[in-house]
Amino acid sequence: MIDPITAQKIKDAADIVDVVGDYVHLIRRGANYMGLCPFHNERTPSFSVNKRKNFCYCFSCKKGGSPVHFLMEKEGLSYHDALLHLAKKYGIEVVERELTDEEKQAQSEREAMLVANEWAMLKMEKDLFDTQDGRDIGLTYLYGRGVTEEAIRKFHLGYALDKSNALTGAAKAAGYDIQVFKNLGLTGTSQEGREYDRFRGRVIFPIINSAGKVIAFGGRDLKGGLAKYINSPESQIYKKSNELYGIFQARADIVKEDKCFLVEGYLDVIGMWQSGMRNTVASSGTALTDGQIALIHRFTENITLIYDGDAAGIKASLRGIDMLLSHKMKVKVLLLPDGDDPDSFARKHTPEEFRAYVAEHETDIIRFKAQVLLADVKGDPQKRIEALNSVVESIAHIQDPISRDVYIQECSRILGVQEESIAKSVATFRGVLIEKWKRDRTRKDFPVNDNTSDRINNADGKNASYASQTPQQQFYQPSQPKPVRKENPYPCQPLEQVVIEYCLKYGYLDLCTVFEEEDEDSISVIDFVSEELEADNITFSVPVYSRIFSLLLNMKDSYEEALERYTAKLNIEIETKRREGIANIGASDLSMSEIERAEKKLEKELEQFAFENIREFSKDYPGRILASHESDEIRTACIELIREKHQLSNIYQRDNNVIEKEEDKLEVLVPRAMTEWKNELLNERIKNLFKQFQEISGKGDQEAEKNLMLEINSLMHLRSQVAKDIGDRIISPGVNK
Ligand code: CTP
Ligand code: MN
Repeated sequence: MIDPITAQKIKDAADIVDVVGDYVHLIRRGANYMGLCPFHNERTPSFSVNKRKNFCYCFSCKKGGSPVHFLMEKEGLSYHDALLHLAKKYGIEVVERELTDEEKQAQSEREAMLVANEWAMLKMEKDLFDTQDGRDIGLTYLYGRGVTEEAIRKFHLGYALDKSNALTGAAKAAGYDIQVFKNLGLTGTSQEGREYDRFRGRVIFPIINSAGKVIAFGGRDLKGGLAKYINSPESQIYKKSNELYGIFQARADIVKEDKCFLVEGYLDVIGMWQSGMRNTVASSGTALTDGQIALIHRFTENITLIYDGDAAGIKASLRGIDMLLSHKMKVKVLLLPDGDDPDSFARKHTPEEFRAYVAEHETDIIRFKAQVLLADVKGDPQKRIEALNSVVESIAHIQDPISRDVYIQECSRILGVQEESIAKSVATFRGVLIEKWKRDRTRKDFPVNDNTSDRINNADGKNASYASQTPQQQFYQPSQPKPVRKENPYPCQPLEQVVIEYCLKYGYLDLCTVFEEEDEDSISVIDFVSEELEADNITFSVPVYSRIFSLLLNMKDSYEEALERYTAKLNIEIETKRREGIANIGASDLSMSEIERAEKKLEKELEQFAFENIREFSKDYPGRILASHESDEIRTACIELIREKHQLSNIYQRDNNVIEKEEDKLEVLVPRAMTEWKNELLNERIKNLFKQFQEISGKGDQEAEKNLMLEINSLMHLRSQVAKDIGDRIISPGVNK
């Protein structure tokens, strides 16, 4: 574990131009740099690097972020490893937390296992090419199956000699601890206690994780034995359900193509690779797991499942889809002609034909599912309901509300069912799912997407009991179809966004000066907003804004410390400048009064220099810190909020062409944004009260009517006050310099 101080030090040191420059040829454009996006194929540069804010952003594919984020994305590293990578680049010594004895033990065991596996891989690769049996049996088999030498080398295929003690004996001779080989499943022990090679007379497929470590092997039988494949057992370094065969070789291509093909077997990956579809991985014959999806999701959200077109393949293709959808993956499926897997298909067709087939036959998974299930119904009403439910359930797993709507429409068309009743069933299923995800939340990689219309169903109580009902009971109940309400759950979102944006961009700048009794005090943008919120008991309704705001509030101490450090550094710089300036003045032959004037001028310049630098520092601080926050959600939201678009909001003065910047008008802009937000809140409340009023009016309860009217009146009065109140608190615009 990297301690937080070192982590911060690394983030501070990492320079985005530098880091991106290792991958992208950058050209200066004004204050920024531009280049060809490393995350997608393009001809005109849309990848922008902002040195001052220390982040990058692709205007086209929208990827980017801080240096850490860039490396995570580009290299497929974890947060921790990206930090290590940067530490190395900048020569920062990393103080990892002292490991406990157990952790040390586990770590050194793991390392020993990785070393042993790597050694075994290289030995078996060598035996494939350099021994008679390797060539006669192993290579002959591979070439016979159409595997090229290039692919063999790329995937480090090998041959396990058909002897009882070839690998184990060599390992001993090389001085390895055989216990490690036993833990790895490379060496077995017979009942008589004799050690023997577990992989014998087999072609070997090493399984290499995304970081390039050899974690396991698969060995294919060549003699028609009982087990076609034997695989390494699970171990400290191999958790089968979290790994995918081929990920190391496919990683970069998955990122480049922004897409991943998923196939079943080792040879399928290789066949795809040889046909030029190098963004392919295999689940190795088992059903896809959450861990494997998360691994793919690190590189792309587009996945195409490729299966054999027989009944088993179709069934398999439908198995993992709900899980994929709930991981926000965009899923397509491709069936090969009956009886073919990618490996055999690749051998029967040219790479061009194969790729054309893929492009032509990829089908959206939900459409596919609807078609497949419906074809199977044949007028059986019970089966039809089951099919509908199953499709609806899949739609309910989609996290993006807009895509859900699109599918609801489309399925209504395909299935011939009213859109409203599908929508209703989807909402019901989603209710059940969300409850489930909340319960599973400890498993953390299931985001309960708050930004949907789910809340509305909750709020109006219609589905209050859904958790106890099974979806099956819900579908097709003969209730009158009611249109789903598609309200934004956060009506104030756009107004809140403006406020949080100011906080992020200018949070620690002074907004204005307030006079309290005798004292004069300046108040920062964040202070102002937080006081305003507190005074009216308002909070951000959009969860991520609320989190960002509380992070900003909590950041104050670290900001002040950072500012202090920065000022100290700046003072040294200023001192140097002063010395140089004075020396220059001294070296010139000026009169006494001229010297005096020159020195005054110098002091003024230095003051201005200090002011501007400190201002820039303060301005950038919150964005800089949060743009490299650990949480994806926070980081992405912050980058979205602070990226370049605000430059458009510069205010142009027509007459003299001077650009007045947003940041110079904060004392007007920020209070105005607050006012607009508050007004909207009041509007909402007034609207609700009116609705209540309509409901009760004419029912004879005059007392209640009167009370409501009074409340409405006072709120309307308040609304007219809000603007004025806020205006009053700004004592003196322009004093904030
Ligand atoms: N598999 C396995 N153990 C088995 C059978 C299969 O681990 N006993 C895994 C392997 O990763 C294999 C994949 O499941 O690649 C798909 O199995 P299958 O289609 O039977 O094998 P193929 O890869 O097609 O092998 P081949 O073409 O050589 O028959
Ligand atoms: Mn096969």
